[in-house]
Amino acid sequence: MQTPFVIALDGPAASGKGTLARLISEHYGFAHLDTGTLYRGVAWLLLAEGGDPAEGDAAARVAREFDTAKIVGADIRTKEVGAAASVVAADPAVRAALLEFQRRYAANPPNSASGAVLDGRDIGTVVCPEATVKFFVTAGAKVRSHRRWLELLDARPELEESTVYNDLIERDARDAARSDAPMIAADDAELLDTTHLSIDAAFAAARRVIDGVFRRCG
Ligand code: CDP
Repeated sequence: MQTPFVIALDGPAASGKGTLARLISEHYGFAHLDTGTLYRGVAWLLLAEGGDPAEGDAAARVAREFDTAKIVGADIRTKEVGAAASVVAADPAVRAALLEFQRRYAANPPNSASGAVLDGRDIGTVVCPEATVKFFVTAGAKVRSHRRWLELLDARPELEESTVYNDLIERDARDAARSDAPMIAADDAELLDTTHLSIDAAFAAARRVIDGVFRRCG
């Protein structure tokens, strides 16, 4: 079997990496793993059992017992779960427990796909340092929080945009400052700033990079 073509997309909250990852995976017929789902899933399970995200042992236990089947239908996209996810994600024992699953996914993409797209914070640096193509997707904080506010508005019409902004800044700071696998661009990542790009334009820019690598790889 050929080594899978692995695309790593990292970046801060609501930078557009999730949407890009989905479009890229559909376009190339690759599998897609949103690794934030794993951290959000651990946080959601922990909160559901009344646990404290800052209390290391409980989060690590939930992470070791984690199975995506346990979070089917769970509302993991709330800002509360996002905040708790970034707290549990700072725990090295939680990260270690989730690492193997991510690496296995990249090495053996489901449904015999010839490649995998993984999006998160540490894919290009820690999970798949040998990824075929790496992107670090950014956008200005105001633009990102506006996007996230629009996403959350249906479920939470009372939510203030300034609250979403403050949460996002706090989460980014925690993700960038942690000592284990901080959110940082890999040296060999392509920087993609989506502040002034539509999703179509960002997708086109990503495709140019990926197609260039395909041509070079033959
Ligand atoms: O969708 P959004 O960008 O808001 O966040 P997410 O990708 O769902 O990730 C939620 C949280 O999980 C992040 O704030 C990180 O703390 C953590 N995370 C991580 O540490 N490493 C990853 N590879 C993915 C997510």
